[in-house]
Amino acid sequence: MTSAQATTRIQQLTDKINYHNDLYYNKSKTEISDFEFDQLLEELQKLEAEFPALRLPDSPTQRVGGGITKEFASVAHQYPMLSLGNTYSAEELTDFDSRVAKGLAGDTYEYFCELKFDGVSISLIYEQGLLTTAVTRGDGVRGDDVTTNIKTIRSLPLRVKAKDVPNRFEVRGEVFLPKEVFKQLNKEREDIGEETYANARNTASGTVKMQDSTEVAKRKLDCFVYYLLGEENDVETHAEAIKKLERWGFKVSPTYKKCSSIQEVLDYIQTWEKKRHELPLETDGVVIKVNSLEQQERLGFTAKSPRWAIAYKYKAESMSTRLNGITYQVGRTGAVTPVAELEPVFLAGTTVKRASLHNANEIARLDLHLGDFVFVEKGGEIIPKVTGVDHARRAATVKPISYISRCPECNTPLIRKEGEANHYCPNEKGCPPQIKGKVEHFIQRKAMDIDSLGEQTIRQLFDLGLVKTPADLYDLSKEDLLKLEKVKDKSAQNMLEGIAASKAQPFENVLFGIGIRYVGKTVAEKLARHFKTMQNLRQASYEALLEAPEVGEKIAQSVVEYFADKANLREVERLERAGLRFESDQKEPELVSTVLAEKSFVISGVFQNYERDQLKDIIIAHGGKVLSSVSGKLDYLLAGDNMGPSKREKAEKLGVKIISEADFESMLKG
Ligand code: IVH
Repeated sequence: MTSAQATTRIQQLTDKINYHNDLYYNKSKTEISDFEFDQLLEELQKLEAEFPALRLPDSPTQRVGGGITKEFASVAHQYPMLSLGNTYSAEELTDFDSRVAKGLAGDTYEYFCELKFDGVSISLIYEQGLLTTAVTRGDGVRGDDVTTNIKTIRSLPLRVKAKDVPNRFEVRGEVFLPKEVFKQLNKEREDIGEETYANARNTASGTVKMQDSTEVAKRKLDCFVYYLLGEENDVETHAEAIKKLERWGFKVSPTYKKCSSIQEVLDYIQTWEKKRHELPLETDGVVIKVNSLEQQERLGFTAKSPRWAIAYKYKAESMSTRLNGITYQVGRTGAVTPVAELEPVFLAGTTVKRASLHNANEIARLDLHLGDFVFVEKGGEIIPKVTGVDHARRAATVKPISYISRCPECNTPLIRKEGEANHYCPNEKGCPPQIKGKVEHFIQRKAMDIDSLGEQTIRQLFDLGLVKTPADLYDLSKEDLLKLEKVKDKSAQNMLEGIAASKAQPFENVLFGIGIRYVGKTVAEKLARHFKTMQNLRQASYEALLEAPEVGEKIAQSVVEYFADKANLREVERLERAGLRFESDQKEPELVSTVLAEKSFVISGVFQNYERDQLKDIIIAHGGKVLSSVSGKLDYLLAGDNMGPSKREKAEKLGVKIISEADFESMLKG
């Protein structure tokens, strides 16, 4: 393909993918299958790898991340990002209305009501239609440039194409982690033995500031916008601005409403008090804005906030109820979670009987006693939490809580590692919930994907003594399965077929499935790619593990410990004998050119535009070789930021050429 042909095709693909992306993420519609979409994206990725200079600024390949930000640059806001005044009552809101009426000296006015989204506020700058900069709120005057990360949010247009787009405009909105995504993320973390995150908002805020945008892309952030700023927007009301933003392809929550009196505003507040819990994100109030922009200007600002807007905060729904007891749950990794057993109370639409207490520290922090009356809250979150003790109702008879010292399931003494909040049951191979949990982990979709088995089947197989480890699944016979409740010939056959079919799952799924602590799906993929075979991984030293992408000390240590355990080795050998895949079949990327033929590279440090893995692919795709250590035979040391000084010294001593990311890009162009 010539460069001219590539230019045309890249333009076509970029437009097409952006069109389907907007359709899917903002309009919940599809015109092509996922497969077709992936094919288009793959074609574009390939072309961009071959012709990096032709990548367009609104290329959808930015959605999957790739860029690493070492330090977020500080950027001054053109318009300061102010906060809003808060109110908690109808009276205060009526006072606000009186101040507005007075400020507008008898003019009629309207309000525009929106929900107050509980996420991270963001300022988005568009120039010539292109998203050029995304900045966090910071201190309101200056914030951090998080553009690379924000570009992974699929519902945000990278380019606005409408005819009436001004040269420059700013959009403000709230970046959030949808409740469902948050729940899933925590489930996955729990599954690999990581501590779970406390709430969606803090997690969203942490995600926006992650260094590796590929990781950000996986988190599936979303963004609702609610404010248009700029000198040439040609709108007279906030309502018109919102309509315009919708037309330009931004995602606006459909929950807004124009109100012509404060009474209507109060009705709106009441309507959403309960209904807001059904929304995909957490909300903590309502934002009320004067609709006319000219009136907004007349009302102006105080030092801290606009006089034309206010936030009405919903009171967190809280009830006091009796703490009847504490029970303890043991997870797959042996982590123990205390659960508050409560006198049932009706709260935010449901009856609450239990609440998570996270760990022993939380019980101490709350100073909980058995028989205490505790406040339970459901601040829009899914799992209710105990927020404190109702000291006024504490009886003389309450008893302090002594945390259990033995596993409630297998009676093994619990351990608590230094620096960790959780207690663990160390009886990995003999503790029932840990055994069942391991098998459930193994059969899940992202691992061996045996959907003909489920939690109930695993429980029964365990109770009958038929399955104690994942490898036992492959020894099951039809007679065994017919012993299960309600299982007839046909479903037994189904199960056997599902188990047999799982043998075709790729190596990275097997590696994830065996359940090495801290080895999630992404890490399993990287390990499979780096070490190629189970044999190599098993023999890898701690140091060799640290050289693999995404592997830090915690993971390296965990992998070493896993393979040092004889029972684990036996299990792995049984799985191999059962015929599971122990070799990676990830193909080396196809050759797109030979400009780097015969050239060898060592990649070191952190790069602006690529992940190390990506660079490796690009080098191989252009005929080059990637080596792991600097020697006299090496042609180039591709040096990013933060490269270790010893590599550089060695390269200099041996006369190996040291090149930058930019040098590398020009080499690619030939
Ligand atoms: S308008 C000058 N609308 O609340 C007014 N803000 O306390 C600009 N927020 O920093 C803000 N939902 O992060 C506005 N529908 C909404 C909002 C909203 C959430 C956040 C925003 C802002 C904070 C103000």
